[in-house]
Amino acid sequence: MRDPRDESVPKNGSGFNRRDFLRGSGAAVAATALATSEQGASAQDSATKKSVKSAAPQDVTLNVNGKDHTVKIEPRVTLLDTLRDDLNLTGCKDVCDTTNCGACTVLIDGKPTYACARLAVECVGKKVTTIESMTVDGKPDPVVSCFIKHDASQCGFCTPGFVMATKAFCEKNPGATLDQVRKGLGGNICRCGTYVGITACAMELVQKGGK
Ligand code: FES
Ligand code: FES
Repeated sequence: MRDPRDESVPKNGSGFNRRDFLRGSGAAVAATALATSEQGASAQDSATKKSVKSAAPQDVTLNVNGKDHTVKIEPRVTLLDTLRDDLNLTGCKDVCDTTNCGACTVLIDGKPTYACARLAVECVGKKVTTIESMTVDGKPDPVVSCFIKHDASQCGFCTPGFVMATKAFCEKNPGATLDQVRKGLGGNICRCGTYVGITACAMELVQKGGK
C-alpha cells in the first residue's frame, strides 16, 4: 500500500527512497552480470561499477530530537533500523517494514515519514523527530495527553506512529474537518481498532488550533 500522505515516496529527483535504492542495486547487479557474460563488455562493466556506491560502513551523522549522533552504518541501512538498533530509540516500531502500517512514523523536517522507507544516509542534514521527544518540561506533550484523555490506545504498538502523524497533521491543519482528519491520518493502521479515540483526539486538537 502506498502511503496516502505521500511523504515517504519522493516523486522527483529530490531524493531516493529504500525502494529506489533496492531497485537501483538490483539493476546494478543485473547489469554487472550481463556485462561480464559478454565479450568486449569491459567498458560497460566499468561504467556499471562506477555507478555502484560502496557498501562499506561509513560514519553518518544524524540530527535526532535536536542532537547530532554519529553512527557507523552501511548505506543500505534504514532510518528505522538505525534509530532502533544504533541509537536505542525504540519508540518507532518495526511492524511491517514494508511501508504498509505507519507504526514507524517519525517526522523528517516536520513531515510524517515512514522510517522503514528511508535510508539513514538520506537523512543527513535533516531534522529527525521521534516519539522520544514528545515531552515538554518533563510532562507529556499535549498530543500525548490528548491520546490518553481519549483512550486512543490498546496494545500501543501503533500509538507512537499515530502520535507523530497526529502531531504533524494537527499542527499543519488547524480547523480541519472530520473527513480531512481521517484522510490525513490514513497512512497509519491500528489493528486494535482505536480509530474512534484517535479521531476524537485529533478533532479536539484541530479545534483547539492544532496543538
Ligand atoms: S514498519 Fe514502517 S510502515 Fe510499517
Ligand atoms: S493500539 Fe494496538 S495496533 Fe493500535
